[in-house]
Amino acid sequence: MTTDTGKTREYNLSAEKPRIDGTLKLTGGADYAADRNLPNQTYGYPVTSTITSGKLVSLELDEALAMPGVLDIFHHDNFDQLSRSPNSFADENLTSEPRLPFEDNEIHYQGQYIALVVADTLNHARAAAMKVKANYERSDEFLTDIKALDRGEGELPGEEQPGDASSIGDADSAFESASVKLDHRYSIAQENHSVMEMHASVAQWENDMLTIYESSQGVVFQRNALSKIFGIPPEKVTVISHFIGSGFGSKLFMWPHAIMTAVAARRLGRPVKTVLSRTQEYLATGYRPTSLQRVRLGADDSGKLLSIHHDGCNESSPAGKHDDTVSGATPKMYDCGGNAAVTNRLVTVNKCPPCPMRAPGEASGNFALETAMDELAVKLEMDPLALRKKNFAAADPTSDLPWSSNHLKECWDDAASRFGWDKRNPTPGAMQDGDEIIGYGMATQSWEAMRQHCSARFGFRADGSLLVACGTQDIGTGTYTIVAQTASELTGIPIEMVDVRLGDSQLPSGPLSGGSMATSTVLPAVSAAFDEALSQLKSLATAEGGVFENADPDTIEIQSGKLVQGDRSVEITQLLADNQLGLIDGEASAQPGDEQNQYSFRSFGAVFVEVRWDPGISRLRVARVVSTIDIGRAINPMTARNQVEGGIVMGIGMGMFEQAEFDQNGYPYNNNLADYILPVNADMPKVEVDLLDYPDYRHNAFGARGVGEIGLTGVAAAISNAVYNATGKRIRDMPISIEKLL
Ligand code: MOS
Repeated sequence: MTTDTGKTREYNLSAEKPRIDGTLKLTGGADYAADRNLPNQTYGYPVTSTITSGKLVSLELDEALAMPGVLDIFHHDNFDQLSRSPNSFADENLTSEPRLPFEDNEIHYQGQYIALVVADTLNHARAAAMKVKANYERSDEFLTDIKALDRGEGELPGEEQPGDASSIGDADSAFESASVKLDHRYSIAQENHSVMEMHASVAQWENDMLTIYESSQGVVFQRNALSKIFGIPPEKVTVISHFIGSGFGSKLFMWPHAIMTAVAARRLGRPVKTVLSRTQEYLATGYRPTSLQRVRLGADDSGKLLSIHHDGCNESSPAGKHDDTVSGATPKMYDCGGNAAVTNRLVTVNKCPPCPMRAPGEASGNFALETAMDELAVKLEMDPLALRKKNFAAADPTSDLPWSSNHLKECWDDAASRFGWDKRNPTPGAMQDGDEIIGYGMATQSWEAMRQHCSARFGFRADGSLLVACGTQDIGTGTYTIVAQTASELTGIPIEMVDVRLGDSQLPSGPLSGGSMATSTVLPAVSAAFDEALSQLKSLATAEGGVFENADPDTIEIQSGKLVQGDRSVEITQLLADNQLGLIDGEASAQPGDEQNQYSFRSFGAVFVEVRWDPGISRLRVARVVSTIDIGRAINPMTARNQVEGGIVMGIGMGMFEQAEFDQNGYPYNNNLADYILPVNADMPKVEVDLLDYPDYRHNAFGARGVGEIGLTGVAAAISNAVYNATGKRIRDMPISIEKLL
């Protein structure tokens, strides 16, 4: 088949390979943003609002300014004039909070930055920040919990987003006439991004050029945004993010701490490093917004779906709109007789802007839909897996386009058999083991397969090594590793000889590390750049006086670091030496093509969960998780499975533990890792992940659809469905904290 590069080549990469950067990370050799120390560096520490809504009337700074080591304090009255970023995803300059730091004296949320103290050491900066006194005009009109607005029936609260509404067929009539109906509400509490590596910026100006070291999932986006905000050409801004200690979406788009750090560095003429505290992270760098959802399903007596309605509502912020579109994927999940209608609404709350969080929107929406499907199965006295199979969507119901590749049925069967679903007793509480009541639950998993444009550089060096460079990043998922594997596979040169450069906005423009699209986006660009470099090598070899003088370049192949033509061959290192070259490299781009109009690209999977409920001690635990996922080809099954496992951990967090909580003053009281409950090792059951291997060459020549997010979807629903099977209690509000079972 013809690929986007016009070649008829298909790649057969698939190898278990530990991360090539693992040693650097484990030995402290990886230069995370906060590890960066520059000569003459200073330290920034933000001062944050302690009210939830109102106005900042004045700051009393004298005491803070007199503290040891303090260099300056930046705030509304002395801050630089900047431009707001145009803030466009399409133009790749989106920021998370469009408001500039200290833009005005309005306070929209607790944790909003009101000043930045800069001192000679971190301790000095922090100590002085504690001495800044803020006088506020406090407003008592604020909202931190959208559930407070919900009447529990009818329309969800908030403002409808017309762009989110979509429908096929006539869902209203189909629902009205259905013999079996279900209409329930669901909610998921706010989940915080609990990244291992805190957000950090280290900014330095050299003349009018800005370099900023940042923990960023998008160096190109941040470079473009800083260029607009500071009014300097993009070439004069460099954003570097060599390693990232996870991000999950909170580091996709720049936050205000980076801007204020850059301003402080310019004003002081010295590098400034700002590292957020965990509490500042929790208050000012986004979160998965609380969502309210209503799902209505109509079916006939045999379990055939006739209609799906899915209405969603998520929190947004006065400091920046965020639409999670929780119901967006629902019409693609099942054949619902051609009748589906979805909407989404936003409610403004006094918190910092929400942002994407692993499987944004879909993980939340999937919880509601997959729980509703379980409830429908109970109503029909039907096996929940059989109900799903009956409603398998053979083509994308929203477009009637064929799936590029869809092996959901095999995922269902494979996971069910490995799990032992056939041993399930559907009667709640019927399965027991000693003091524990056992529950089985399942859900379908899904995530869209996206791809973007990308450029890359590929070089052959005189010492026999390869240089592969792309302005994307590795958030820890293994991007360095799969790029190295690809380069090795293309050239026959061992992976140890591949030098992969990522995380630098000076490199050829690469995609965000998000949306599960880095693999499908970057590898085709790497291969296009390889083609470019190879054709230059062939030109050298076929030139006058060259080893294959006058040979047809198409007859030359690359094998194990050699160019081969017929029975002749030459080491590439020899070719470079003969031509007195240190490096031959090529740069090229790749982008999705016409296939986007011919197929619907989406990954599916199935997850089965066993929970155990011990009523004597009120303990709920997940005892077993089995998941089978179809992501096309896994370039590296080891790191790919690891993504699914990580997603499952987060799914257990969503289902059982995670919720940011606010008191009546809007104070977020579990704003630290001790009080914000996350799944830890002791909570983790046996997790068995299986990846099918059906390369999706319609998506790209590597057959890979990406894997970062799908593992999280379905998990909360499967837990909730298993809890019903164990206890007979239907918990529609996540997380299932113990009190909900008492
Ligand atoms: Mo993600 S929400 O793809 O960083």
